[in-house]
Amino acid sequence: MTTQQHTQASEARAADSGAQASSRFKDRISANRNEQPIDHERVDLLATKAITALTDIIEEEQVSYDEYNALKAWLIKVGEDGEWPLFLDVWLEHAVEEVATSHRDGSKGTIEGPYYVEDAPEHQWNGEMPMRDDEPGTPFQFKSKVTAVDGTPLSGAKLEMWHADEYGLYSQFAPGIPEWNLRATFLANEDGEFDISTIRPAPYQIPTEGACGQLIAAAGWHAWRPAHIHVKVSAPGYELLTAQLYFPGDEHNDDDIASAVKPELMLDPQPAEDGEGEQVQYDFVLDPER
Ligand code: DHB
Ligand code: FE
Repeated sequence: MTTQQHTQASEARAADSGAQASSRFKDRISANRNEQPIDHERVDLLATKAITALTDIIEEEQVSYDEYNALKAWLIKVGEDGEWPLFLDVWLEHAVEEVATSHRDGSKGTIEGPYYVEDAPEHQWNGEMPMRDDEPGTPFQFKSKVTAVDGTPLSGAKLEMWHADEYGLYSQFAPGIPEWNLRATFLANEDGEFDISTIRPAPYQIPTEGACGQLIAAAGWHAWRPAHIHVKVSAPGYELLTAQLYFPGDEHNDDDIASAVKPELMLDPQPAEDGEGEQVQYDFVLDPER
């Protein structure tokens, strides 16, 4: 494949990713549907505040009918393109995550994003991320120890890991990638440790050809997220930690479109002691369930 052909192919596949994220999210919500009664006061408060914030902007910025109709057309297209998960996870989730975890003393987390899949197959503590025989990318050895805030090693810890491939594509969202490629659940050893072989993911561009891409182009923004490894770390009796880990020197660490980078989430990769590629140690501290 030429570079141009490759770029075209990965753009076409990235376009599918947005729509896939919508149908996946709907499946997950209906599977976990809890029949909670509607809290009418809370809906009234939040919906009124949201509408007021928007009408304030309309007045302050003297929004025209042309602009209002452009917004309407764009909102319709976000739905048609299946890009609501993308839009919400890129521009709003970071604030929700901050609210949800502000009480914690343990490790910092960040957004889940639209590409998590539950129940990835289990591997032992020192396993390898499933990958294709010819999976391109720099070999990356990820070592970790999970403790509680009081320092107790958590032998019952589970580490779910998922990340994009060398082209910035996620299995089960971009077509043509084996189902569980670069997705796995690892079970800690008796000291709460992990030693996982994977490859370094590439920086990721949110799909540019749908409604979200249209907004980004129209506003003159860029569509990049820095390269990152997603994790969910859990142990019975402890709060679930959802995080992403980043690589120093990535040009988008300071202007992540999803505002999901935090200094505490920066890895410190070193040349691998044995073999090629890089290795890193990054430990997690979990808060007890409240
Ligand atoms: C998006 C993609 C990601 O990989 C991520 O971590 C967060 C958001 C997105 O395309 O919306
Ligand atoms: Fe991601």
